[in-house]
Amino acid sequence: MKKLLLLVFAAILVLSACRRQSGDPQEAKWDQKADSVLKLMTLEEKIGQMVLYTSDWDVTGPTLRQGYLEDIRNGHCGNIFNAHTAAYTRKLQQIAVEESRLGIPLLFGYDVIHGHKTIFPISLGESASWDMAAIEKSARISAIEAAASGINWTFAPMVDISVDPRWGRVSEGAGEDPFLGSRIAEARVRGFQGPGNDLSDTLTVLACVKHFAAYGAPQGGRDYNTVDMSERVFLDTYLPPYKAAIDAGAMSVMTSFNEYDGVPATGSKYLLTELLREKLGFKGLVVTDYTSINEMVHHGVAKDDAEAGLLAINAGVDMDMQGEVYFKYLKKQVEEGLVKESQVDDAVRRILKIKFKLGLFDDPYRYCNEEREKRLVYAPEHLEAALDVAKKSMVLLKNDNHALPLKRGEKIAVIGELATSTRDLLGSWKAAGDWNFMRPVLDEIKAYNGENNVMYAEGCKKTDDDRSGFAKALGISLFADKIVMVIGEDWEWTGEAASRTSIKIPGVQTELLENLSKLNKPVIVVLMNGRPLDLTRENELADAMLEAWYPGTMGGKAVTQVLFGEYNPSGKLTMSFPMNVGQVPLYYYAKNTGRPIYLPNDKYKSKYIDSPNEPLFPFGFGLSYTSFVYSDIKLSSSELTANGNIKATVAVTNNGAYDGEEVVQCYIRDLVGSVTRPVKELKGFEKISLKAGESKTVHFEITPEMLSFHRQDMTYGAEPGDFQLFIGGNSRDVKMIPFKLLP
Ligand code: BGC
Repeated sequence: MKKLLLLVFAAILVLSACRRQSGDPQEAKWDQKADSVLKLMTLEEKIGQMVLYTSDWDVTGPTLRQGYLEDIRNGHCGNIFNAHTAAYTRKLQQIAVEESRLGIPLLFGYDVIHGHKTIFPISLGESASWDMAAIEKSARISAIEAAASGINWTFAPMVDISVDPRWGRVSEGAGEDPFLGSRIAEARVRGFQGPGNDLSDTLTVLACVKHFAAYGAPQGGRDYNTVDMSERVFLDTYLPPYKAAIDAGAMSVMTSFNEYDGVPATGSKYLLTELLREKLGFKGLVVTDYTSINEMVHHGVAKDDAEAGLLAINAGVDMDMQGEVYFKYLKKQVEEGLVKESQVDDAVRRILKIKFKLGLFDDPYRYCNEEREKRLVYAPEHLEAALDVAKKSMVLLKNDNHALPLKRGEKIAVIGELATSTRDLLGSWKAAGDWNFMRPVLDEIKAYNGENNVMYAEGCKKTDDDRSGFAKALGISLFADKIVMVIGEDWEWTGEAASRTSIKIPGVQTELLENLSKLNKPVIVVLMNGRPLDLTRENELADAMLEAWYPGTMGGKAVTQVLFGEYNPSGKLTMSFPMNVGQVPLYYYAKNTGRPIYLPNDKYKSKYIDSPNEPLFPFGFGLSYTSFVYSDIKLSSSELTANGNIKATVAVTNNGAYDGEEVVQCYIRDLVGSVTRPVKELKGFEKISLKAGESKTVHFEITPEMLSFHRQDMTYGAEPGDFQLFIGGNSRDVKMIPFKLLP
């Protein structure tokens, strides 16, 4: 019966001559296909396509709705999230295809953020690799495993820029920088949707750029809080990664919970229609975040859910995630003439087009193959890639007196609850990741260094203040050559709804470190956390510090290989690490202010009386077991013409004893603008590997486009004048050369 209907669709498709006129012939073809289905649908069925409910297999927000199976059956729900495995999604798809009147297949969404089964490091960690190929591969593998488990839509990439480590969701993003964030957004879209954006390939999933827009700037770092920023800051700093992801072909966008300029994003016509569709040219589907239509009542812009629904549909929202608002009110609103049926049709057309593009009308079960799932999930090459990315994401923050790398056979005391945890290795948004499958840091260190050379004591927990384990930790450390203390945050202390007012290491972990440091043995701190932390005290106490983030399924092994020098760390921070929470927000692309700190007077300048201005570790910072020296910069010309380019060249030499990788970073400063300009802006980077003693030259091409911004009159472009160009291994330690942009 249902197959018959599909044939009917096909016939109508052939008969429907180019009724809809779309500029793009490819798009027109998809429009026609979607219209062939749309014609058959009742208003109720159309609204059903605009509904997305959780299966509650995984809980990612408040549960509102029971009985979603019945909703699928009677055409009231066209999309499901938080359901996975080939078997379960097949069961649900069967209800949609075999038991609903029209048999329209379901979309299956899930938060596959940094892996599906094979979990990669948290996104902030991955960003610290500055390795676009590795990040793309991680997204590719995540897509392959998710698609093999019945999923065809991931709620990623999350591309929200943030400069506030109190916000728990910085762990999901790519850090503070719009340029790097944009490159990473593109890499992730390519990874999820495949390099050609061919959704019909069963190894790809639909990407969803989120959270549109400016969600990363909640006041006080408190999740879901008010966002208030100038349009200029929004357009120049927060918007670029969303735009980059859309330009890379991402075909869905998720709205954000926050308001922008006084209007909640989910009801913002400016954001969702004028900016997203008209200016950015986005053609895909817009889904809300979890119940964000309903939340407009709490925001105080709608008196009830029905009114909130009107705001959403009029703003340009196609699909209601979990809110039941379209389901409950939209039909009546259309019947009463409050919403035009053509608005509903436009939304449904966009949704159906995606389903066609995914090939679901050709074969609704194409993602539900259990044999394929078994073969692809946890494939050895996926685990290998997860190990590779985990190593590349780690950042060596300190290494005095060559405390690292450890030598095989040294007696090592391993301390800390996090050394034995597997759950924490996965971080938040672990999708279907299974921590029982994994080995913790301690087991991997033992496996590498020999059981007899490794002693362990928990010492203390991650969060409470019980000191009763201190004595044992100190006792075993007396017999060790070196102490490795694994400390940080519980995984649930980062991610969504996990904002903090302190960014210190919780509990008594630092107190134990103070005690251990008195033993006069090298103490190496391995950090597991999802945000920049205030590590001022730890930096004083430890000989070496390795930022390991939450490194994923292969994290234990990755930490071990880095500690023992099997891999030379190459990660660089993508968020500044403040000295204390009071400096927040702190970011390298700050403005100079009218009273910069370098002025000679002591008092009346932009500074704190109780803290330096600088971060403890700047953006772009990360050490290696080797060291790199930068030559002076050479420019092909010191004058850039309006249509020209200049080439900046620098030689980088590995003058240490180990082979290593370096992220060469290129920044600029516009010295005089019609509006104030940041003291530095990242404009290019290249990750190179250098054998011990080897030198390489690195080039960056500078174009006027790279110097563009929203000028005082809000037009976009560069302004002629004096610039500085900086190249170095982090945003602080750089070489500088001046140049001019000619009129
Ligand atoms: C989060 C989104 C997520 C959604 C679905 C929301 O609470 O903000 O990032 O995609 O839940 O799980």
